[in-house]
Amino acid sequence: MRIIDTVAGMQQQARDWKQAGEQIAFVPTMGNLHTGHIALVKAARKLAQRCVVSIFVNPKQFGPNEDFATYPRSFAADCAQLEAEGVDCVFAPSSEAMYPAGKDACTSITVPGLSDLLEGEHRPGFFTGVATIVCKLFNCVQPDVAVFGEKDYQQCFIVRRMVRDLDLAIEIVSQPTVREADGLALSSRNTYLDAEQRQRAAGLYRCLKKLVAAVHQHTDIGFAVIHASRELEQQGFEVDYVVVRRQTDLHVPVYNDTALVALAAVHLGATRLIDNLPFILERPESGIIAGQS
Ligand code: PAJ
Repeated sequence: MRIIDTVAGMQQQARDWKQAGEQIAFVPTMGNLHTGHIALVKAARKLAQRCVVSIFVNPKQFGPNEDFATYPRSFAADCAQLEAEGVDCVFAPSSEAMYPAGKDACTSITVPGLSDLLEGEHRPGFFTGVATIVCKLFNCVQPDVAVFGEKDYQQCFIVRRMVRDLDLAIEIVSQPTVREADGLALSSRNTYLDAEQRQRAAGLYRCLKKLVAAVHQHTDIGFAVIHASRELEQQGFEVDYVVVRRQTDLHVPVYNDTALVALAAVHLGATRLIDNLPFILERPESGIIAGQS
């Protein structure tokens, strides 16, 4: 497995593979790899002859009060896992390689509308940081296909829209969220949780499941969402948002919408957790009562 840390080196490797008629599947990550990341890698390996994984903790997508400095980094262990998975190349550039003039001086990409909702509302600039680095990584790795996790539901959305808007010839594939036995979505940030918080964290997914069950029963989304939010607070979470949105555009559902997704972001102590649960409304004939913000 090759480890490449320069833009030119990565682009040369991509050119060599393409000249040999080989296709490239790509999994962008920020490292500290867990089984969720590895599920994406396994999927990517099936999609093309060559598989590249990037490890880059992107400073441009962290806010000034967020955890860039403390974000868990475990490069050697990550590489060992990726080698065992048969990955051809790890692209691990430095911040200087990606942002030679500094992250704020870099031309940036903002996906309008979608970037200001939900995660974007609570993390200003976050999706500009994500779209910009994903586009730059695409230009380095030159993938034919790239794999993302549904765990970051809105991120998948933003990436797909960027690819469409900028006519990038890259297929975007998404993979379902990998969870612990008790339902907690795997996340690099779970390592911040102490034992007591870790136990409590599983309540987030349980609450999303209850919310979806309540929507199935009553279809009164406004009521179900308020109830879910109260329940999360009672369990010790500080709630950024808990909502039910349309899968198609993440907007508030209207009558006859059936493809929906429950999304939530909460804080547990100093740790921010997100999760989501896509679902199809089974009783569309009764209509949605969409009284939520
Ligand atoms: P990171 O949080 O490292 O996640 C890398 C990829 O793994 C993302 O596509 C994410 O959705 C996916 N992933 C994380 N947890 C998962 C889980 N439990 N199950 C399935 N997939 C999971 O997302 C980022 O990095 C960054 O924003 C990035 C796209 C690399 C840009 O910097």
